[in-house]
Amino acid sequence: MKVTAIYPGTFDPVTNGHTDIVMRATRLFDNVIVAIAASTPKQTAFSLEERVKMANIALKDIDNVEVCSFEGLVTAYARSRDASVIIRGLRAVSDFEYEFQMASMNRQLNDKTETVFLTPAEQFGYISSSLVREVASLGGDVSRFVHKDVVKALKERLTV
Ligand code: COA
Repeated sequence: MKVTAIYPGTFDPVTNGHTDIVMRATRLFDNVIVAIAASTPKQTAFSLEERVKMANIALKDIDNVEVCSFEGLVTAYARSRDASVIIRGLRAVSDFEYEFQMASMNRQLNDKTETVFLTPAEQFGYISSSLVREVASLGGDVSRFVHKDVVKALKERLTV
C-alpha cells in the first residue's frame, strides 16, 4: 500500500530547514504533499500564492513532492487527500509542547492519521521563518538559510 504524508505549515517563507524535512520525508513515504495553510493565525509577509510559488521553486529538485494550499482543518485536508501521515518538524525541546498538543487534537479530529515527527539536520535547528524575515529586513545575509529565489523575494518585500 502506498503511503501519502502531508507536511502542513505556514511556510512564510519556506526555508532550508523545511526542505531538509521534506527530503527526509520523501525517503520514508511514497508521496509527500507540502500543504500550505491559507488561513493561519499568523500575519503573513507573503500571500498564499507567493508562499506556494516559493515552495515550488525551493522543492523542485525533490521527487515525489507536491506543493498545495489548503483551507480549513489539516485533518480534513488529509482525509480528502487520502493521507495517513502528518509530518511535523521538531527542532528543539521548545517545539515539543505545542506540537504534542496539535498532534493530540489532530488525532481527536481524525484518528486515521498519525503525526510523525522528523528532526532537521543540526545546522537547521535554529532556523525559523520569522527569524529569516527579521534578518532579511535588517539587511542581513540569509542566503545560507533559504533558496536563492527566496532571498530575492525577501529583499524585494522586506528591505526598505
Ligand atoms: N526548519 C525551519 N523552520 C521550521 C522548521 C524547520 N524544519 N520546522 C518548523 N519551523 C518553523 C517555521 O518556520 C515556523 O516559524 P515561524 O513561527 O517563525 O513562522 C515555526 O517553526 C512553526 O511554523 P510552521 O511549521 O509553519 O507551522 P505553523 O505552526 O505555522 O503551522 C499549521 C501550523 C498551519 C500546521 C496549523 O496552524 C494548522 O494545522 N492549521 C490548519 C487549521 C487546523 O487544522 N487547526 C487545528 C490544528 S490542531
